[in-house]
Amino acid sequence: MSALKLAINTGGGDAPGLNAVIQAVTMAATKRGWEVYGIQSGYAGLRDTSRIRRLTPERVAGIASLGGTILGTTNRGNPFRFPVRNADGTFTEQDISDQLVKNFREFGFDVLIAVGGDGSLELAHQLALKGMPVIGVPKTIDNDLTATFSSFGFDTAVMTATDAIDKLHSTASAHERVLVVEVMGRYAGWIALHSGMAGSADVILIPEIPFDLDRVFAHLRANEANGKCYGIVVVAEGACPRHGKPRLKVGPGAGEPSRLGGIGEWVANEITKKTGKETRSLVLGHLQRGGSPTPWDRLLALRFGAAAVRFIADGQRDVMVSYKPPDMVPVPLEEAVRRMKLVPVDCDTVIACRDIGISFGD
Ligand code: F6P
Repeated sequence: MSALKLAINTGGGDAPGLNAVIQAVTMAATKRGWEVYGIQSGYAGLRDTSRIRRLTPERVAGIASLGGTILGTTNRGNPFRFPVRNADGTFTEQDISDQLVKNFREFGFDVLIAVGGDGSLELAHQLALKGMPVIGVPKTIDNDLTATFSSFGFDTAVMTATDAIDKLHSTASAHERVLVVEVMGRYAGWIALHSGMAGSADVILIPEIPFDLDRVFAHLRANEANGKCYGIVVVAEGACPRHGKPRLKVGPGAGEPSRLGGIGEWVANEITKKTGKETRSLVLGHLQRGGSPTPWDRLLALRFGAAAVRFIADGQRDVMVSYKPPDMVPVPLEEAVRRMKLVPVDCDTVIACRDIGISFGD
């Protein structure tokens, strides 16, 4: 096979492990005698080509342990509805996809490795349909992609959230308070479920199990009656009460998706109102996306990157690298982004939580 010229970008919210993918792709491709170029800021970097940089083993040495992404990322870079700023500060959406495909060809790229979540991978698939050969690598701290058993970033987010919950036990206990922690995850409850269980929460509220506040109050009261005078409630940002809707902090607009937030504070206020218990709430927010990836996330990310290069060598295109333990396998990109992976309400982790006395407020 003749030497290939690969491009790689990172899109959507960052996740610990992105740099490990970049490192593995660069090392594996260079070993085959291929060239790798980093596209800055998601797809936007293919528009402003002055920001395309050659990646070499020297450039990526040691980056696997770093959070963030050396390529930068954005969740406002949809090339089919690209937000272009007007002189008066407003935005107009433009379809710049043809220009991106043209630039991609003019640079002589053979394949784009698009590292992203469902949104970025859907865009990768749309660009593939326009003639840009792509390979997707799944990235999400939310663990909500169906086509892969897991992705890098999730383990680190769960570790950070668990660490925070562990620390809250002592202060909640000292003051005999209820502490409500809101964690990320969008419309999936994976981070809340895993960190809540690992951190011995009393109540875990997830989008997949609409909650009844009276059940939450009853559970906290019963714990108190049994001598546990404090409580830890872990709430997924997308959780909502029965017959209610998820809380949005910011609605969708100007090429930006809507932002969830506020459910933790609301639950905390309701607990104080209905139980008289002193309650505080906190939002862990972007802490969960920061920091060095755990060894597990590094390993996954390095394996995803190496597999992407291997699949390209095998002639695969328009596929996503999927982790199907113990292997990495190609799955059609189109299939990979079709459905969101939600917590099955009857999965063993949920059952085990119930077994050990954790309430889901249902
Ligand atoms: O998808 C990752 C994620 O961190 C979600 O858990 C969260 O809802 C969202 O991104 C936050 O996005 P932003 O970085 O735009 O605030």
